[in-house]
Amino acid sequence: MDKVTLHRLNEHKRKKTKFAALTAYDASFARCISEVGIEVILVGDSLGMVFQGNKTTIPVTIEQMAYHTECVSRGNKQSLIMVDMPFLSGTNNSEAIISAKKLMQAGAEVLKLEGELDTCERIRYLTGNGIPVCAHIGLMPQFIHQTSGYKIQGKGKVAYEHLLSKAIAMEKAGAALILLECIPEELAEAIDDSLNVPTIGIGAGSKVTGQILVLYDIIGLTNNLPRFVKNFMENGKSIPEAIEAYDKAVKSEIFPNSENIYSA
Ligand code: KIV
Repeated sequence: MDKVTLHRLNEHKRKKTKFAALTAYDASFARCISEVGIEVILVGDSLGMVFQGNKTTIPVTIEQMAYHTECVSRGNKQSLIMVDMPFLSGTNNSEAIISAKKLMQAGAEVLKLEGELDTCERIRYLTGNGIPVCAHIGLMPQFIHQTSGYKIQGKGKVAYEHLLSKAIAMEKAGAALILLECIPEELAEAIDDSLNVPTIGIGAGSKVTGQILVLYDIIGLTNNLPRFVKNFMENGKSIPEAIEAYDKAVKSEIFPNSENIYSA
């Protein structure tokens, strides 16, 4: 299998075909995900919750992200490795570039940043230094204390317009990908239609270019799954078989279905 690059993800956008992404935090799962042919592995700061057992992603440090990126990088075969910039690891350009350097040298190929419109400045700066950026909008777990919980975003006219214009501004600032978390499908579709770059959705419906989920959620390790997640371990599947079933379901557009989608 050829190495997955941003060019390949752009081809999916152009041809209107889907790609799949999953989180991983270690070499063994990274190898397994990559061998199945999942295009993108995210070393997500969700590791703070599912791996470290914290209640939020806020305690995760840049050193921890770099460590897990190195582990994933060793197991990965050809997937594109995207890595989260953790909480407050780059609130200005000079701080952001130091954090970004650590993650890129650990094996990241794209960095993901949660943030409001002021993030555009950092997107521009990192992109100008050769670092591809994925802007993460909609539900942003690093903003949990401001949003008072993990809730659907972009409902209502004002929130809809805000997220649409934010996505457009972030693409203009240089974002190579836009990740949309927990928003109505109609809004995700409007964002995807307005952009040239691919969108990746989690709880954003079926009209985005790529789908992403947290690995532990699809292999039955999480209680009380939100509606946008599906456990792919049913009928006695092994973990590699469950990952393969997720990949096939995304690419054949069986997942997400109407049960997994939020509407406006
Ligand atoms: O950290 C993470 O796993 C994420 C996904 C939920 C997209 O950001």
